[in-house]
Amino acid sequence: MKAAVIASDSVTVETVPDPAPGAREVVVEVAACGICGTDLHIAEGEFAPTLPIVPGHEFAGRVVAAGSDVTQLRVGDPVAVDPSLYCHECHYCRLGKNNLCENWNAIGVSKPGGAAEFAVAPAANCVRLPESVSLQDAALIEPLSCAVRGFDVLQPALADNYLIYGAGTMGLMMMELAKRAGAGSVSMVDLNPARLETAKELGCTATVTSADELDRPRGWEVVIDCTGVVAAIEDGLGRVAPGGTFQQFGVSAEGAKATFSPYRVYNKEIRIVGSMAVLHSYERAAALFAEGALKPEVMISHRLPLEEYPAALDQFRQGIGRKIQVNP
Ligand SMILES: NC(=O)c1ccc[n+]([C@@H]2O[C@H](COP(=O)([O-])OP(=O)(O)OC[C@H]3O[C@@H](n4cnc5c(N)ncnc54)[C@H](O)[C@@H]3O)[C@@H](O)[C@H]2O)c1
Ligand SMILES: [Zn+2]
Ligand SMILES: [Zn+2]
Repeated sequence: MKAAVIASDSVTVETVPDPAPGAREVVVEVAACGICGTDLHIAEGEFAPTLPIVPGHEFAGRVVAAGSDVTQLRVGDPVAVDPSLYCHECHYCRLGKNNLCENWNAIGVSKPGGAAEFAVAPAANCVRLPESVSLQDAALIEPLSCAVRGFDVLQPALADNYLIYGAGTMGLMMMELAKRAGAGSVSMVDLNPARLETAKELGCTATVTSADELDRPRGWEVVIDCTGVVAAIEDGLGRVAPGGTFQQFGVSAEGAKATFSPYRVYNKEIRIVGSMAVLHSYERAAALFAEGALKPEVMISHRLPLEEYPAALDQFRQGIGRKIQVNP
């Protein structure tokens, strides 16, 4: 089969052996695979314990082979794949906090992924989709499942006002979920006017390049960083309303430091929470997606053939478009 391969000094598309399923695994014929920041990090030598690796953790497709012990899926089933692989043995797995697993692995990060004609996944990681769902669009379920995790941690209230930094795919998904969660308003900050146009098209309350342009003297009950950029994080932390919540969703550089006022956090009872990947949120993301929570034709800006994976990754690096997919 053909597959994208990230090696220590190259990104190529090559012919590699066809995968075969283990007893409790299936082989998925990939319909589409999304690209995100994680793939860039892998190309830059982070995350993946060993290169080369076939990337791709955001994918959906059809089951074409099933292992001998698979009982819940059949050949022909349309599925989306949760890429998270937990050890189920470590301290955090045993607490049910599997996304904090001490031996965390993921399909497309440390095991061969979906930027290929076929990918292997444990049957336990596959959610069967209704036939009405486009399998290419269903590659959006994985990032959506991270956003759903974000909301599990946030625990917002009806009529909360949201301020979201970053109108990339993740910020836009957070906005869509905020509207569903009964937001009073959702305002978005980005420096890229093209990104803000899309946010407007999807119906957010206000789009600005600086929150100074917005008139909300008490601040916002929910502020979410979807940039990972320290300047945005510091600005956002200062705009949380008393009693409100700041969520760090964007991924900063590991050594990055941000400054905030501990006095204000104490005195105004500000809650600061993280959100890491997916935890029991994939199934619900698939359900939300199947009933139309996202507009794929807006969210997905580019659908490229698998052969163009290296160019697709470059384009993502340059911030051109929104969700970029390869279609094997
Ligand atoms: N927590 C999780 O589980 C999880 C899951 C997926 C992605 N992420 C992270 O979420 C973040 C967003 O992902 P994405 O795919 O939407 O990324 P993206 O790069 O497409 O979007 C980020 C946006 O932030 C904007 N931005 C940059 N600096 C800014 C600033 N100072 N003020 C306002 N906006 C600014 C950029 O213009 C861009 O539109 C990334 O850091 C990604 O790694 C986290
Ligand atoms: Zn991703
Ligand atoms: Zn574990």
